[in-house]
Amino acid sequence: MNLQDIENGTARALAELAAAEDLKALEALRVRYIGRNGLLPKLMQGLKDVPAADKPAMGQALNRFKTAVTDAVAGRKAALEAAARDARTGSLDISLPGRWARQGRLHPIQQLIDRTTDIFRRMGFTVANGPDIETEYYNFDALNTPPDHVSRDLADTFYLPGGLLLRTQTSAVQARYMETRQPPVRIVCPGRCYRRDTTDATHSANFHQIEGLYVDEAVSLADLKSDLDHFARELMGPGVRTRFRTHFFPFTEPSVEVDFSCHMCGGGGCRVCKQSGWIEIMGAGMVDPNVFAQVGYDPEAVTGYAFGMGIERLAMILFGIDDIRRLYENDGRYLAQF
Ligand code: PHE
Repeated sequence: MNLQDIENGTARALAELAAAEDLKALEALRVRYIGRNGLLPKLMQGLKDVPAADKPAMGQALNRFKTAVTDAVAGRKAALEAAARDARTGSLDISLPGRWARQGRLHPIQQLIDRTTDIFRRMGFTVANGPDIETEYYNFDALNTPPDHVSRDLADTFYLPGGLLLRTQTSAVQARYMETRQPPVRIVCPGRCYRRDTTDATHSANFHQIEGLYVDEAVSLADLKSDLDHFARELMGPGVRTRFRTHFFPFTEPSVEVDFSCHMCGGGGCRVCKQSGWIEIMGAGMVDPNVFAQVGYDPEAVTGYAFGMGIERLAMILFGIDDIRRLYENDGRYLAQF
């Protein structure tokens, strides 16, 4: 036995192992080379007859042989098992965890805008838009808002130079739209609004509203009530009830605030509705004749209703979101659940 024999033997053993066709053949090779009565123990025994000077090199060569064969057996075994598994399941290993492709989705605000506009579209409304940067005229004056009205306060409104401001309400679209069109008018207008609110769980300086405006020859408060009632059922389900409370807005007369029966408790009273059974959803009313006069409509010939509601509020109610700030943090993990 010399070194060269061992190297040659190693090479041959590895070649045979790599070619082993199944686990049985592989095991037979393992036994033959490194098994208890295999080649390796025999060679180890032979070491004692090797001249002392050659012993270390020979010993090391035998160790390399053992390691190489052991590794080759393990490697071939894994490959044969993988092949057997593939043969059973195709190349798909159903025991591996899946790879997720995260699906994109619409932001809850956009979902609510889509849902509400869709409902009103089915009722014959079209969608209109106006600018975020608005004039004081369209946001206030044209809407019959007196010069000293609180909503104009510097503390409530973001003013810009040159009689401009960030619109505080989508109502600003009303006069803009009517000015250039003749009745009948049936529009909804979703969009961003801005107010100098300190951000907390229910307030944001930048939020969304959807405005509605219907003007024709004989639009009545009964139309407002039945249309909003229909909207409520379309949005929240057939069990929801509406309630109209008198209120004040400069641009509607009479004005109302509209509540929906609480979706959580069905009206019995719970934490969400603060035990009242009702949730305030929007402001509304019959368009004030002064607004019609301002846009050149004859207040004697037409009547109309208008309403405006906060989209964030709807989203929070429908999705059970407890803090408005969650809608703006852009945390995909949070938003992905809606
Ligand atoms: N613009 C009012 C608000 O922001 C809501 C409203 C719209 C009220 C239309 C009446 C008519 O509170």
